[in-house]
Amino acid sequence: MSPTMSFQVALNFEDGITRFIECRPDETVAEASYKARINIPLDCRDGACGTCKSRCESGSYDGGDYIEEALSDDEAAQGYCLPCQMTPQSDLVLRIASSSAAAKTGPAAHTATLADVKRHSPTTIEFTLDVDDREALGFLPGQYVNIAVPGTDQSRSYSFSSGPDQRQVSFLVRIVEGGAMSGYLTERAQVGDRLEFTGPMGSFYLRELTRPALLLAGGTGLAPLLSMLERLTQQPPTHPVHLLYGVSSDRDLVHLDTLEDYAEVIPGFTFDHCVADPTSSARNKGFVTGLMDPGTLHDGDADIYLCGPPAMVEAVRGHMTSLGIAPANFLYEKFTPAAARERVVAA
Ligand code: FES
Repeated sequence: MSPTMSFQVALNFEDGITRFIECRPDETVAEASYKARINIPLDCRDGACGTCKSRCESGSYDGGDYIEEALSDDEAAQGYCLPCQMTPQSDLVLRIASSSAAAKTGPAAHTATLADVKRHSPTTIEFTLDVDDREALGFLPGQYVNIAVPGTDQSRSYSFSSGPDQRQVSFLVRIVEGGAMSGYLTERAQVGDRLEFTGPMGSFYLRELTRPALLLAGGTGLAPLLSMLERLTQQPPTHPVHLLYGVSSDRDLVHLDTLEDYAEVIPGFTFDHCVADPTSSARNKGFVTGLMDPGTLHDGDADIYLCGPPAMVEAVRGHMTSLGIAPANFLYEKFTPAAARERVVAA
């Protein structure tokens, strides 16, 4: 790569706000941040104080020159790095040890045009946007944005169901009686409507797969996992990836054909689904926990990604405890149809 080309660096702040910057291979991440007017924590800028210490979650880089007091060998081996010294050798994702406000930045605002509204089932709608400045919208697969509901003073959080590299962006919505976005999409939405949103946000995004992964979706919690799978079509996994998709009733089942398509093109990807309603025609009736055994959990040597309602998070956690299995990583995003999202914890 020539020095005039650049890599994309995602700066993920403690409050979940993510900003993307361009960084050339001959400049440090701190220099590139400064140019983008993002004040990541810095003091000596010389690899001596450790103030800028961050964690690199994916990508490769040259760590640069620094002293042991600023960054120990152990820390470097765990993926910690010094943005004032490091230069990228690929796209990077960095966890910055400050809030976005402390770095004098915040969620980016975007405008878009409604391109499509598709009713997948009696309970579920997907809508698609053409973003005015798509190049300015970077996101990590699994993240969400806050969308202002047209004609109201309310906004709602939705995870992208589309992949970061796709031109259009889309979102899955469960239709809720009296819900602001549900009302808009079912009664007033017209292709060509203008929408505004801010983001991306969230810590529930796909990390580098260094072991098998188990993806768990509850209802429209499937959306961020679809975004992750889309990314895996571009970056094929070297470990097995299994998805379990649970819904309440047959009316909630969507995108099974999309999952079939992903199973065709993503090496090592498999999936299964279950329906809680005992009268369902599905082969598996019950909850995703009924499909989780020590085998699907790889006896704990697995990264688990779960997006679903709070009760599902607790049920999965309780189930793993009862099996005596603690997974290597458990990342989850809880949601309720109309409420704000609860931020993610990696256990
Ligand atoms: Fe001091 Fe980076 S700012 S080590």
